[in-house]
Amino acid sequence: MTAAEHWLSIVGIGEDGWDGLNGQAKRAVGSAEVLYGGARHLALVPTAGSSATRIPWPSPMAPAVQQILTEYREKKRVTVLASGDPMLHGVGVPLTSDLVATEFRVIPQVSAFSLACARLGWPMAETSLVTLVNRPVEQLLRQLYPGQRIVIFSEDGSTPATVARLLTESGYGASKLDVFENLGGPSERNITASAAIWPNEQCGKLNLIAVLCASDATANPLSITPGLPDDAFDTDGQLTKREVRAVTLARLAPLPNQTLWDVGAGTGSIGIEWMRLHPSCSCIAFEARADRAARILENAARLGVPNLKVIQGTAPATFASLRSPDAVFIGGGVGNDDLFDACWAKLFPGSRLVANAVTLQSEASLIARHTIYGGDLMRMMVSRADPIGGSYGWRPMMPITQWAVTKP
Ligand SMILES: C[S@@+](CC[C@H](N)C(=O)[O-])C[C@H]1O[C@@H](n2cnc3c(N)ncnc32)[C@H](O)[C@@H]1O
Repeated sequence: MTAAEHWLSIVGIGEDGWDGLNGQAKRAVGSAEVLYGGARHLALVPTAGSSATRIPWPSPMAPAVQQILTEYREKKRVTVLASGDPMLHGVGVPLTSDLVATEFRVIPQVSAFSLACARLGWPMAETSLVTLVNRPVEQLLRQLYPGQRIVIFSEDGSTPATVARLLTESGYGASKLDVFENLGGPSERNITASAAIWPNEQCGKLNLIAVLCASDATANPLSITPGLPDDAFDTDGQLTKREVRAVTLARLAPLPNQTLWDVGAGTGSIGIEWMRLHPSCSCIAFEARADRAARILENAARLGVPNLKVIQGTAPATFASLRSPDAVFIGGGVGNDDLFDACWAKLFPGSRLVANAVTLQSEASLIARHTIYGGDLMRMMVSRADPIGGSYGWRPMMPITQWAVTKP
């Protein structure tokens, strides 16, 4: 191997096996010194003409990925077989994330996502892709809208029945499910039924699910625009109300791939709405009380962001060793100087902090910090129309003082 050569090839392979590979992919397999792949994929590759050491993926795969990157890097010609397009929720992603582009070559095959859209005549760019491989099924809930097309990568043969149940319980029992087993191979099979009457508790292990969402009267489609109705959350009252929540999220200004710390999270509504904005948004909610921490997790799962992380305990002690967030919201403990100092110390330049105060004492802390750190102070006084006798009158809510600042 010369310095100019890449040492790692990642070859996408479909259910049509060796016959479906192009010349470049076949050469990458033929010239490998070490060949990694799932047992199913290795069995699809002829042994004739290859002297490679064949290594089936162990379970879990992560240690083997590390071994490839440390033991073999630039020492051996390694070829890895992966299903479909290796860069679409495949092993190509962790293998290449820390390499420079000259070290590897990815040779993609048609992905199962493409094949499903091809079978159904669905426009790929208008179809959502969700993977449930090693992920909680509730993340699907964020994607449910009437008319929405979703392709789901399954964990295993029980995933279609689990998805059908979740859809039915959420008011989407009328959705049409197409399960495709072994797409692109000789044993390809398609099963079609609505979620409410899904017939198969077990499907083939290798399957994906295409869902055309249709709602019934019990469905309650929720927008991803911040400011969900207050009753979308189960709460003991520690809830940032809808109007204030919408403004708070606007000031927190989430972007894809960013992380929020929701400090003193209460019901968890700020972190949940942050995460609903984009599948790559993440949040750590810090909450002292165990009952509230449990409720935050329940709300997060029900609202389609089951990956929200809750750290129960007294902040800021619970911040230790965590990576800096992109934004911090302080909803509880605004008057606590140690808490603020720890949040501020964790932020890097350009990241945002937003704090809301209800009491005069906590408002005084925000005003004092505004004097030192700058930023914007504002006050919200929201009134909602409420019935009085046969008419309506304005019922004022407690005024909220908000301080928003970007770390210089
Ligand atoms: C980790 S993802 C990898 C997807 C792959 N990178 C691709 O482009 O097709 C694995 C999941 O993809 C789906 N899948 C991959 N190949 C498939 C096939 N031939 N037939 C049906 N589903 C398939 C299954 O849901 C499986 O659990």
